[in-house]
Amino acid sequence: MDKFSNKQALIKILQAAYSGEKAAALAYSGHWRSVKNLTEKENIQKIEQEEWHHRDILGNMLLMLDSKPLSWREFVFTLIGSILKFLCPVSGWFLPMYCAGRLETMNIKEYETASLFAQAGGFQEMAEQLAKMAEVEKQHEEYFYTMIKNHSAFKFIESLGTK
Ligand SMILES: [Fe+2]
Ligand SMILES: [Fe+2]
Repeated sequence: MDKFSNKQALIKILQAAYSGEKAAALAYSGHWRSVKNLTEKENIQKIEQEEWHHRDILGNMLLMLDSKPLSWREFVFTLIGSILKFLCPVSGWFLPMYCAGRLETMNIKEYETASLFAQAGGFQEMAEQLAKMAEVEKQHEEYFYTMIKNHSAFKFIESLGTK
């Protein structure tokens, strides 16, 4: 791919991530309110703040690339996040923790891919920042995985050959 195509691919993935972070942050805002354990509350609240921070960074990156978020994505992902926020208090302890872990795994890949596009497109600083964001998502994934790894429902899912 030439530099122009890499830039276009980078913009596309940043637009997706920008709206995705909003959905995640909204879901986490419902998640931390729904857990009873105080430490869990604080940890998930911190993760929520980190997702909003990621969204700010992505918004700035899009500006620097002379682009902007997609309004239809904003609409759809705000809706998804709001539904998840609403579902958290009624879906039990395990399911939101498990779904969060899966979401974080996708986010890691998204930022690693974005970082590669940024690198190939000649945006070195962005590439480094995106790689750092992938690292933060790894910490999030690790947190949720640690929470559920000894849960019987997770052991059952693992026994089916997926995680
Ligand atoms: Fe994030
Ligand atoms: Fe995350």
